[in-house]
Amino acid sequence: MEINMVTLVCFLQFFSFVPIFSALDSITPNQPLHYNETLISKAGSFEAGFFSFDNSQRQYFGIWFNRISPRIFVWVANRDTPIENSSGVFRIAEKGNLFILDGKGAIIWSTNSSDTVQNPVVQLLDSANLVVKDRNNSNPDGDSVLWQSFDYPGDTFLPGMKLKSNLVTGEYRALTSWRSSEDPAPGGFSLHIDTHGLPQEIITKGKIITSRIGPWNGIHFVGVPWGKRQQFLNFSFVLTEQEVSYEYGLLNSSTVTRYFITPTGLVQRFFWSDQTQRWDLYAVGPADQCETYAICGANANCDVNTSPLCECLKGFTPKFQEKWSPDNWSDGCIRRINLGCDNGDGFMKYEGIKLPDTSSSWFNKSINLEECKKLCSRNCSCTAYANLDIRNGGSGCLLWFGDIVDMRIHATAGQDIYIRVAASELGDTSNSRHFNGKRLAVILVGSSISIIGIMVIGFIIRAWSKKLEKPGILKLIFGKDKKEKQDINLPAFDLSIIANATNQFSATNIIGEGGFGPVYKGVMDNGQEIAVKRLSQHSRQGPEEFKNEAMLIANLQHRNLVKLIGFSIKDDERLLIYEYMPNRSLDCFIFDQDRTKFLNWDQRFQIICGIARGLLYLHQDSRLRIIHRDLKTSNILLDKNMNPKISDFGLARIIGRDEAQTKTKKVVGTYGYMSPEYAMHGSFSVKSDVFSFGVVVLEIVGGRRNTEFSVPHDHNTNLLAFAWELWNKGRPLELLYASEGDSLTVDELLRCIQIGLLCVQERPEDRPDMSYVILMLNGERQLPKPREPPFHPHKFGSSGSCPPKSINEMSCTSLEAR
Ligand SMILES: *[C@@H]1O[C@H](CO)[C@@H](O)[C@H](O)[C@H]1NC(C)=O
Ligand SMILES: *[C@@H]1O[C@H](CO)[C@@H](O)[C@H](O)[C@H]1NC(C)=O
Ligand SMILES: *[C@@H]1O[C@H](CO)[C@@H](O)[C@H](O)[C@H]1NC(C)=O
Ligand SMILES: *[C@@H]1O[C@H](CO)[C@@H](O)[C@H](O)[C@H]1NC(C)=O
Ligand SMILES: *[C@@H]1O[C@H](CO)[C@@H](O)[C@H](O)[C@H]1NC(C)=O
Ligand SMILES: *[C@@H]1O[C@H](CO)[C@@H](O)[C@H](O)[C@H]1NC(C)=O
Ligand SMILES: *[C@@H]1O[C@H](CO)[C@@H](O)[C@H](O)[C@H]1NC(C)=O
Ligand SMILES: *[C@@H]1O[C@H](CO)[C@@H](O)[C@H](O)[C@H]1NC(C)=O
Ligand SMILES: *[C@@H]1O[C@H](CO)[C@@H](O)[C@H](O)[C@H]1NC(C)=O
Repeated sequence: MEINMVTLVCFLQFFSFVPIFSALDSITPNQPLHYNETLISKAGSFEAGFFSFDNSQRQYFGIWFNRISPRIFVWVANRDTPIENSSGVFRIAEKGNLFILDGKGAIIWSTNSSDTVQNPVVQLLDSANLVVKDRNNSNPDGDSVLWQSFDYPGDTFLPGMKLKSNLVTGEYRALTSWRSSEDPAPGGFSLHIDTHGLPQEIITKGKIITSRIGPWNGIHFVGVPWGKRQQFLNFSFVLTEQEVSYEYGLLNSSTVTRYFITPTGLVQRFFWSDQTQRWDLYAVGPADQCETYAICGANANCDVNTSPLCECLKGFTPKFQEKWSPDNWSDGCIRRINLGCDNGDGFMKYEGIKLPDTSSSWFNKSINLEECKKLCSRNCSCTAYANLDIRNGGSGCLLWFGDIVDMRIHATAGQDIYIRVAASELGDTSNSRHFNGKRLAVILVGSSISIIGIMVIGFIIRAWSKKLEKPGILKLIFGKDKKEKQDINLPAFDLSIIANATNQFSATNIIGEGGFGPVYKGVMDNGQEIAVKRLSQHSRQGPEEFKNEAMLIANLQHRNLVKLIGFSIKDDERLLIYEYMPNRSLDCFIFDQDRTKFLNWDQRFQIICGIARGLLYLHQDSRLRIIHRDLKTSNILLDKNMNPKISDFGLARIIGRDEAQTKTKKVVGTYGYMSPEYAMHGSFSVKSDVFSFGVVVLEIVGGRRNTEFSVPHDHNTNLLAFAWELWNKGRPLELLYASEGDSLTVDELLRCIQIGLLCVQERPEDRPDMSYVILMLNGERQLPKPREPPFHPHKFGSSGSCPPKSINEMSCTSLEAR
């Protein structure tokens, strides 16, 4: 009895300590971990436990940075087997295996160690390694490791982990991408060290190589941008007959960094900045077009700084001259003159090169370059040679056999390579070139600014824009659906109420003024802020038309369309009452040198997505099919949370459901945003809005107006031309608005640029529709390759309905003075 009591007391004590579990770094077999309990590593760097994503009950067991918010998960146990709810437990069994059990006790995930153990414990180390040990009580350092999470990496490669491949069995350890940012199940992309020929690091999608980081050159992988932040890290690459193993470490243990592969197949390195409390993107790959595996096909060199991007190697000529173009370089090049082999072929030296694919190469560490050249000369199928290791002036020998694939100019990390050419080609020295690597586009992201804080100070403005000032705001002209009746209740306000709200239409309440009447800021009795557009008395619209059209626009209800709250008519007074938009319009931000800083990339991306959704609604999902016809950044209003709202339907047209396109004699719209077919022939369709959308996207990304375009030292006359040229040269990221201090999501950025270019294609049928745009924005669709957009802005469509730029500018700046 007494013994039982003692046991019971022990048990009670044990349970009363439960809350302390959250501070433990290890557990033993009688300490299961529930959803509400976590392990924290000794120095507090990492935390392990159950977690779920925002919109889901499903629970995963994972490891994340302890003090960093939002949580970044560096490892997940049950990647593709989440538990449906929070009923699961994580435990270590008597024999040392780890289990995740669901509420019914079914095994969701487990480890499979078969060793026999005495005192198993699972411990979370400060490196983020979760290890199972057999605790040796007589010798604390004598614990033997039975299992460790570092042997099973997910998408993240952390200091101390090893990326290994076995040269004998071909087995390898890989990073695998998540399926999406909220689904840790293994996705399409992985990164590992391939062991064919000289081992090299590659990114694959299924069995296909998408990008090659390259072989080790003694200091780093050849394709890795080599910058000053590397001084915080040290690297180790060990190649033996049996195995290749790569790892990196921190030179200063207080550095926090992570390297991972995104769901879209990019590798990114981030450093955490304690000062700004943000992750700074340090490097990304593939960073440009030349990083797409074998983009130039065989025997060609890729250079992002030249146009065209691809050039045949010396002595080679395009396989199909007529097909060798930016559309598709993949056919590559063939020899112009067959090699003479024994009859004295020569070698052409290229400098600053990222070595080509080494999967069909041969190497020997102890052969020098001179010997290496001889070896290559002697074997007719040898096509190139280079040093294996670039340290101390170079050493070792690397030979290629067959086609040269995936060679490029590389800025910071290139080396010399010697390509075999027929003797007769070599004589032609007038044409011979040496190639020097230039700067690779590397994104260095500095410290950042507290965006919200400054925004609040900068924008306590009663401002609303002139956006609603046109009398044509409700000028929706019926197409075939003329009879469609709108049964919607749009409140008609008593004029006196609105007059009270606007301080009797006091001049001090005017927040915008155009040629067609003022816009007032007002506050209703219930505190609601409104913007009141007062149509000029000279407007020729009759009361019936006005009411009818107010009804129409009121019927358009979407999060990303500005909302009409009501209207008011009395005698000659015609008022439209809108929700008040404290942040005015998008152009006030993105084209303003100071304010542009307050819109970071995330916000920009959300704004692009919001506009796309609003436009899709107009085109497709609303009961009417509406073409806006005047989409531009100054017509995108921003609410207090910077959500975009499309406004100004003054030029909008309803078209029939089955009507693909329509014509008009009177071309109205805004210079710089109008599609060519509309500007020149007056024919418009949903695809003309798509064109304008494309311009808006590129303006948001580029931070410049399409028309008043100027970049120092650039010859292009508008943004589309500039964007296209950068894209074509494989340097799309240079389009970017000043991005200092911004943590970018590079794949989103690249996607947006490509989508922007696709939307501004010359032919309407080449432009995607908005539903496809949204799929592409979400990364759910393959992005087609854009062609050259029309560069010449169409000047034909200027119209009185477009406020000239000076008015725009005034509305952005003069309001601030109030
Ligand atoms: C966590 O939840 C479990 C099961 O619901 C419960 O037994 C335990 O007391 C909770 N622990 C803490 C620290 O709240
Ligand atoms: C959790 O899910 C299991 C089935 O997976 C179910 O039996 C159990 O009742 C659920 N528990 C709660 C608290 O919802
Ligand atoms: C453990 O072994 C089982 C059966 O062999 C297997 O299905 C499971 O994936 C293994 N678990 C781990 C974590 O390797
Ligand atoms: C524990 O450590 C001691 C001293 O190093 C060693 O002799 C002993 O074999 C260890 N015990 C186990 C079970 O590993
Ligand atoms: C990096 O340097 C640290 C400190 O000098 C050392 O402990 C660690 O083993 C090194 N790591 C690698 C991968 O070389
Ligand atoms: C490591 O980094 C911390 C924070 O950046 C710094 O204070 C410290 O001096 C560094 N230590 C060394 C040895 O460089
Ligand atoms: C490029 O051309 C090759 C061969 O002509 C073809 O197999 C490939 O599908 C083309 N790629 C694209 C993106 O059109
Ligand atoms: C590399 O070359 C050296 C010198 O020619 C030779 O002794 C050695 O066996 C070679 N090693 C391999 C792996 O071929
Ligand atoms: C040339 O090299 C290839 C690939 O290593 C090899 O298969 C072939 O036997 C070599 N030929 C001669 C003549 O050495």
